[in-house]
Amino acid sequence: MKDHELQELLSRMTLEEKAGQLVQLDGACFGTRGITTGPQEALGITQETVDMAGSTLNVLGADTVRRIQENYLKRSRLGIPLLFMADIIYGYKTIFPIPLGLGCTWNPELIGRDYAFIGRESAADGAMVTFAPMLDLVRDARWGRCMESTGEDPLLNSRYGEAMVKGLQGDMVPGKNIASCIKHYAAYGAVEAGREYNTVDMSEMRLRQDYLPAYKAGVDAGCRMVMSSFNVLNGIPATANKHLMVDILRDEWGFDGTVITDFASIYELIMHGVAADEKEAALMAFRAQTDVDMQTGCYANNLADLVREGKIAEADLDRACMRVLKLKNELGLFEDPYYQADALKAQEIINDPAGKEAAVQTALEACVLLKNNGVLPLAKTGVRTALIGPYADTGDMLGLWAIHADRSHSVTLRQAFEQKLSPENFRCCTGCKTLDDPAELGDFGNIPVVPKNPDEETVRQWEKEAIEAAEWADVIVLAMGEHTLQTGEGGSRTDITLPAPQKELIRKLAAYHKPMVLVLFNGRPMALSDVEPYTDALLEAWFPGIYGALAVTDLLFGDANPSGRLSVSMPYTTGQVPVYYSHGRTGRPCAPGQRSRFTSRYLDAPNEPLYPFGYGLGYHKAVYGETKPDKTCMKSGETLTVSVTVRNDGDREGCETVQLYLHDCAAAVARPVKELKDFRRIVLKPGEEKTVQFTIDEEMLKYVHADCSYAAEAGTFEVMTGPDSERLSCAVFKYIQ
Ligand code: NOJ
Repeated sequence: MKDHELQELLSRMTLEEKAGQLVQLDGACFGTRGITTGPQEALGITQETVDMAGSTLNVLGADTVRRIQENYLKRSRLGIPLLFMADIIYGYKTIFPIPLGLGCTWNPELIGRDYAFIGRESAADGAMVTFAPMLDLVRDARWGRCMESTGEDPLLNSRYGEAMVKGLQGDMVPGKNIASCIKHYAAYGAVEAGREYNTVDMSEMRLRQDYLPAYKAGVDAGCRMVMSSFNVLNGIPATANKHLMVDILRDEWGFDGTVITDFASIYELIMHGVAADEKEAALMAFRAQTDVDMQTGCYANNLADLVREGKIAEADLDRACMRVLKLKNELGLFEDPYYQADALKAQEIINDPAGKEAAVQTALEACVLLKNNGVLPLAKTGVRTALIGPYADTGDMLGLWAIHADRSHSVTLRQAFEQKLSPENFRCCTGCKTLDDPAELGDFGNIPVVPKNPDEETVRQWEKEAIEAAEWADVIVLAMGEHTLQTGEGGSRTDITLPAPQKELIRKLAAYHKPMVLVLFNGRPMALSDVEPYTDALLEAWFPGIYGALAVTDLLFGDANPSGRLSVSMPYTTGQVPVYYSHGRTGRPCAPGQRSRFTSRYLDAPNEPLYPFGYGLGYHKAVYGETKPDKTCMKSGETLTVSVTVRNDGDREGCETVQLYLHDCAAAVARPVKELKDFRRIVLKPGEEKTVQFTIDEEMLKYVHADCSYAAEAGTFEVMTGPDSERLSCAVFKYIQ
């Protein structure tokens, strides 16, 4: 449709029809089950409202989409198609590693390609918009949604955000690309105490320095939608927060796409205690230019009246409605309301070997080798290998948000091990329960209600098998981790260690003094200091996706060399969180190992995480040279080149992620001890040496000041390079204005 045709369409719409475009309802309203991702409350809406609703969520499948659209259009006076949005977070059917794993690839280019595939696969089955990527920065590992984030660093998150948005949207070709809705704007990752749906209070300086950059990168990359977050930010819920939504998002960043709420957020303005009733809630959210109401009756039942009462200008309703119409038009829905959805085409893409290859490759790069005393890589012959643990033989390693996938289709670790080992050298058993009380977890999406733990006799039998396998084996590989439902939405924990039955089994098996490799499947940075001492090697696999087991097995047996680097700090103990590398300074710093009373430290744990941001091992041996700036003074308008040489002293090819950090030594505002400013992935053959050069420009020296201005200050800077955020060599330079 041409612009004037859209305008003409708008001019023919009633107030109710315009408001209807701003209403999103789930599949149940359209006579299909869909997938439930939020509380099911009665909405108090009529069939007429359903017939005028502009969009639906989490209803997919080409045939279903076609059927619903056809029925819907039959009842629509003006023939405006329904928009199908969904949570396609890190894969539709071909599930990639969870975003936290994607973050650990330090390879945004690769992730951009994955998201292009994700867009293609889901578009073929009827998806038009996805609620992804989640660009919340996370530093509190108690929060279950760490799994949906690429990590703790603004720069890294921004690079991924940009790549994901561009990958999904491509050229916005109908049936091939899908629109991206970034979320949860803003600062949802900072909920107090890591508790889901909790409140956030932070300075505007910190908000702008750490939390906003990734959303801004998503907006700059052209995302068509933004989702408001559940949380209150500095007293005002994000959904009704004019400063966030209008001053920053619309006016400062120039976003003119559609803003949608998170699930029932407008209604929750009443629960937050800022609105007296649904009508007031609708007015507040609308005034903050929150366009679409997800799954409440607030807009449907009140917007038209609010216009009639003069509380909302009709022009503002038109503007919001036009944003939705424009998106539908851009997606080509007025020409093809089915978005070329085609079950056969979808099946072809799902079976496309390119998808499998991409998912394996990304899982290879997402796993992080945290410890290896030489036991890895494992031998394929002449060694008896026991694979033990709740993750030894399950396809459920997809993570919580793989809500459209079929969990029974994923490859299990056992199947992957069987491809490497002869049967006489391989045993596999479950060993123990995943956790003591799965009933606590509730259920989510299409993840079945948690099965009950087996009876005590079965559990005793499992343990007996594990002990026999340990006695028999030359090496033990433990496949353990969190229950899928212990992470993701509603998955906050106060104890982020391995669940008790698994820890207990580790301790029992350690008595057999066999080399032990622990492979972890989990959705947050866990505190591992209580199990790490029992292990000879630790591989962090996150939830690695549908083909993740193949990647994990290749890494364990040395058919691939680990290259993942942590995009989050792994705490030493739960009580340390939030623990992150770019923390502020203190007037009484404590050097590692120092025990003075009057320094900033814990009495019972180190300040440092167990494994720092940026960290990861491989099977090669990288040796880093000194950080060498090309000059000692950088004048305003100039750039400075920093070089560092990296040599591979090992006997196999390996990939290094060379990292660059800066620190402003004396500034008007106390600056973080270091901040990541750039990174480069390089591949080194055995014996090979490469020099990596980074360019530092003024932009990198700028920071958010107390008045929220963004500027660089003259003075001394430390520049650091190295393989992670702790093992760094440092040089200084002066910046002169
Ligand atoms: C609530 C979640 O917070 C959000 O991430 C998701 O997109 C919506 N539900 C829709 O399922």
